[in-house]
Amino acid sequence: MIKDKPSRTAYKVAMNIVTLGAKPGMDMVLPPDIVQTTKELLLVSGAAGAKTIKWSDSPKMVSVYEAFDWMLPGQFEAFAHRKAFCEQQVRAGIGAGATQILILGAGYDTLGWRLAPEFSDVKFFEIDHPATACLKAKGIDAMGSRDNLILIAEDLGKKKLVDTLKPKVLWDKNSRIVVVAEGLVMYLSSKAVRDLFNQCAVISGAGSRLAFSYIPTGVDGRPDAGRWTGLMLWLQKMSGEPWIWSIKPEELGKFLEETGWAITPTLQGTTNKHGVEFYTLAKKRTCRDKK
Ligand SMILES: C[S@@+](CC[C@H](N)C(=O)[O-])C[C@H]1O[C@@H](n2cnc3c(N)ncnc32)[C@H](O)[C@@H]1O
Repeated sequence: MIKDKPSRTAYKVAMNIVTLGAKPGMDMVLPPDIVQTTKELLLVSGAAGAKTIKWSDSPKMVSVYEAFDWMLPGQFEAFAHRKAFCEQQVRAGIGAGATQILILGAGYDTLGWRLAPEFSDVKFFEIDHPATACLKAKGIDAMGSRDNLILIAEDLGKKKLVDTLKPKVLWDKNSRIVVVAEGLVMYLSSKAVRDLFNQCAVISGAGSRLAFSYIPTGVDGRPDAGRWTGLMLWLQKMSGEPWIWSIKPEELGKFLEETGWAITPTLQGTTNKHGVEFYTLAKKRTCRDKK
């Protein structure tokens, strides 16, 4: 990706959320306040202007997205389901005793900012590339910083999580955590995803969870984006943020096992596919899992 510029894909996801707010019925899926806070963040960070946001928040823009749905069927609404899934996993994880939430490749996601006051005993950490993280930090400062929300600017492909978290912040690697990697792993190399999941296991305590989305591998070995895979892969490449990593759903369990996690297919809503992505929840492996 173009590392010195804020992420275009993070911008697209955020804009998509704004437009979903104008689609009747999506309020039943989208987490409360997400549309308003996303609009505010885009505006005060300078990521988008008032006119662009107003235009995105309109029935006309809903029609534009729907007209292009043939390219990635279901993907427009999928972002609402993805946001709902991640928030549900974070809330459930906190309910089960998680005290640290780590949001990887956070982009303009507002989950940490929205939930931080509600869960003042929980620490929220976000990591993204410096260009995106710095623009977001500007927005968060303007919206009102949260004592328990820590934004970190780092390239996940370059520095190990354990080194990223240790010198800068008071990270407790023995505590129960929830890691969120929403719309991230497809942009990383196979080695980087393996390393990242391994490191997530190293920096987390027993009972930790990992919620993430991924694109399945198609029969031709490429990330499967449906009928227009070739076009989509080309468009992503041209945008400077190509889709690199994917995995066959039947191989995910083994991959997770090898990186310190165990798949949880029995948990409701953890193997859903919306648009081109699957949403999955993994739990940190225990000694019993390893036998
Ligand atoms: C598609 S966006 C998703 C943003 C956010 N998770 C969401 O769903 O709203 C992908 C994000 O991953 C970040 N990203 C990609 N590769 C990264 C890396 N090596 N290190 C840190 N962040 C990365 C990008 O900067 C971008 O913000």
